[in-house]
Formats: sequence, C-alpha cells, structure tokens
Amino acid sequence: MNISVTNEPAAEVKADAVVVGHFQDSALSTAAAGINEAAGGALARLIETEDITGKRGELTTLLAPAGTATTTVVVVGLGKQEDLNRGAGLRAAAVAAKSLAKKERAQVAFYLSDGWSSDLVEAAICGAVTGCEGQDLYRAEKELHPFGELLWSATDASTVAAARATASGVSLTRRLVNEPASVIYPESFAAKAEQVATDCGLEIEVWDKAQLEAERCGALLAVSRGSVREPRLVIMRHNGGPDGQAPLALVGKGVTFDSGGLSLKPSDSMKTMKCDMAGAATVLGAMSVIAQLKLPVNMIGLMGLTENMVNGNSFKLGDVLTARSGKTIEILNTDAEGRLVLADTLDVAVGLGAAKIIDLATLTGACVVALGTDVAGLMSNDQAWCHEVEAASQTCGERSWQLPMFREFNAQIESKVADIKNIGEGRWGGAITAAKFLEEFVADTPWTHIDIAGPAFLDSAKPWIDAGGSGAFVRTLVEVARHFNDDSTRIPIR
Ligand code: BES
Ligand code: MN
Ligand code: ZN
Repeated sequence: MNISVTNEPAAEVKADAVVVGHFQDSALSTAAAGINEAAGGALARLIETEDITGKRGELTTLLAPAGTATTTVVVVGLGKQEDLNRGAGLRAAAVAAKSLAKKERAQVAFYLSDGWSSDLVEAAICGAVTGCEGQDLYRAEKELHPFGELLWSATDASTVAAARATASGVSLTRRLVNEPASVIYPESFAAKAEQVATDCGLEIEVWDKAQLEAERCGALLAVSRGSVREPRLVIMRHNGGPDGQAPLALVGKGVTFDSGGLSLKPSDSMKTMKCDMAGAATVLGAMSVIAQLKLPVNMIGLMGLTENMVNGNSFKLGDVLTARSGKTIEILNTDAEGRLVLADTLDVAVGLGAAKIIDLATLTGACVVALGTDVAGLMSNDQAWCHEVEAASQTCGERSWQLPMFREFNAQIESKVADIKNIGEGRWGGAITAAKFLEEFVADTPWTHIDIAGPAFLDSAKPWIDAGGSGAFVRTLVEVARHFNDDSTRIPIR
C-alpha cells in the first residue's frame, strides 16, 4: 500500500473516503470541524442527537456529504482524550480502515492526528494498514481490499517512512503466519528470510541439516526427525551499533507445523498449528523493521525452524537427547517440542555473545489458560530486563503480563534419567514449567521469554483486525530495540 502525506483540508481532499476522529465529550477536531462546516453542520447535529458520541471504535458513515470532495466520510470514535495512547490510536485507525476496505478504494485520507506525537501517528498508520489486510491470500473474492493509496494528514515524511517500515514488518509477520504449512516450511521460511535480508540490508546465515549436525543441535534435530522437511536455523544480523557492542538477541520458535509428533494432537487442536512459527515470523518482521529504520543498535535474530511430524523415524517418548549446550533431556511428551527447538536456538544466541535475549514462542496452551487469548505471558531470569520488555509492550498497546519464575518450579523439570525432562509434573503452571526449561539454556544472560500462544493467532476476527496471524509483538520488539542499552542493572529472579 502506498502511503503519503496530504496537506489538503479534509473537506477538499480528493479521496474516495475521508476518515476523521472524534473524542468523547470533546469539541470537533480541526478536520471534523472543516467537514462539519462544509456539510452545513451535519456532524454537529449528529453529536447533538448523540448519534455520534466519540466512544472508542464507534463508526459513523456519511455518504456523499454536500460541500466535500469525497463520497464517504467516516467518523471514528477515539474514546476519552486522556485515554489516548498508541494502542487506542492504532485500533481507531484500524477499525475505520477495516470497514472501508470492504470495497475497493483508490485513495483514503485519514485526518486523525490533531497534534498527535509522531509515535502515535506511526502506530495509527500501522493500524490503518493492518486493518485492510487479512486472510484473503487464497480467496478469489477478497473480503478486504487494501487501499490503492493511504493519505495521512498532519504528519511529516519521516514519520510516514517509519510507519511504512513498521507496517511492512507487521504485514510480513502476519502473512507468514497465515500461509499454510505446505507453503511455509523450514526451507521456504529460510528462503523468505534471505529475500528479506537482501531487501532490508541484513546479514544472514542459514544453517542446513548438515550444519545443524556439525553444531550438535541435538534437540532441534530430534524434533525434525519425524518430518520429510529438513530443519533450518536462520541467523540474521543488524550491525547498527558501535563496533564490539554485544548484541541484543531476538530468538523465535519456528515450528512450521506442530502435529504434536507421536504425542499426537487431536484434530481440533491441530487445525491452526500452521501458526506455530509465529515466534520466528515475529523475529523476522521485527528485524526487517529495525534494519529499515537503521536503528543504532547491534541485533541478532535467530529462528529455529522445523516441523513436528510423525513418521517411522520420529523422536520417541523415553528418548534422551543431548542438546547443543551438552545438557541431556528426557522426552516425555513430543508435543512439548517448542522448548526443544528453543533450547538449541537460545544456546546459539548465548554462544554469539548476546548481551540480552528475548525469545518469542507460541509455546503453551497453559499460557492461554492463564492469561486469555489477548495477553502474552512474560517470564524472565532478570526483573529489570523483564520490566523493560513489559514497559515497551505497554507503550505499544500490546498486552503482556509477567508470570512468576520462583525457584520452587525447578523441581518439576528434574528427570530420573537425564539432566532435565521436557515437561512438568502435571498440567498446572505449564507456561512456567516450559519457561523454566528454557532458562536452562540461557546461562547468565538476561533473558525474557514471551509466550505468544494467545495473541499470535486470532481464531475469530475483531472489529480492527481479521482473524489469523496478528503480527503481535513486532512493534514491541522494535520499541525495545529503540531504547536498548546494555548497561542496566541486573535484578536476578530466584
Ligand atoms: N504449539 C503448542 C502450543 C500452542 C497451543 C500454541 C495453542 C498455540 C495455541 C505447543 O507446542 C504445545 O503443544 N504445547 C503443549 C505442551 C504440553 C505437551 C506440555 C500444550 O500446551 O499442550
Ligand atoms: Mn507442541
Ligand atoms: Zn508447538
């Protein structure tokens, strides 16, 4: 989608549709006042009769209002002025965009940002783009039609450029998650990453099966054995920071399809498991944005890619694997595969000298039980680092909540035959026991794990976003990278 700045007044802009915002209990914005005046006081009357209240997400469409150059004016409710933040701005733009995208439109002009900060505008532009894109990849008749051109008022070219980069990263993540597992598998994901690296100016290295064997990635390789698709490990680098600055590592779970392996999932739980590479897709999306924005920070992005399938060569219950770090793992459930993939991928990040690590994974159903579908779980070995990640997510309007990592949980992953086992003692606290497993592979590196099993993939559409891949946490990662410095004080969690 083309995005550009417009300086035309709202009533005069030549666009198929014009979007203006209205805050609850507030005066008309400049743009809304312009439309109101051109249209003979129509908006004021609708506010008077409480047909327009300004409540969050409220949409009012005026068709061919007299005195304007457009055919459709949409007034979107922005909620209370004091509650405006990036999440609210993004959703308001997205609700309007999604509603307008039901039909093809060459140009849509947004007049939301009356004195908004550039961060807020960036989020809102991102919402406008996200709102128009969905699950139409394989439909002859599209439900959503991205606008030919998105015009944005009251902003500048550099904000639009940043928004363009961010939106393209979020869209990339969503598209990768929405592609079926027959299209996105380890090799094709890695090929896509190579293309992104070329387009955005990132260094890339791809480990194939032979290289993974040479690197003794025994945990990741075990998961991949049941599949005819070969595994891959993708390592991307963005060297925007000072030479020698230890990098921030982003690590993603890239299980391109999770059947559960021999601990086979029931059909109902399996049907959306193309989404199990969302962690890796989020890392790729974020790296692409960070490179496009040329952020002054050294970053590495690691993506552990495999399928978890069933064949005569599948890894088995009772197997003992040796991970890349040398730790041995007793397998008691092959459906707890994400932590195995991450064990080796995290170990590579540690080996590359990461200053701090964030991993993202659709890791556990238990996290969704704990926090619901819209909130990601945060688990960490360092309170200061966890807090930084949480603050970034809060700033971006992406919901997350920390779960405890008390030492008492360690006993649950003790094994009678190996160093650790790959599941806890029962279902309870499953998100945490999974994180406790991951913690074994990050050494002393400050590390925060984001379990995105809930928010990465929507089972049903919301007014501001189609169902399917959500692109959640791409913006949070970019926000963390924007503020990254490697000298904050550690607060170990024990
Ligand atoms: N990929 C799943 C977790 C998941 C569930 C993601 C629902 C998205 C939505 C993961 O590999 C898994 O199967 N986890 C098991 C762990 C259990 C066997 C300890 C689970 O959550 O049931
Ligand atoms: Mn699984
Ligand atoms: Zn999985």
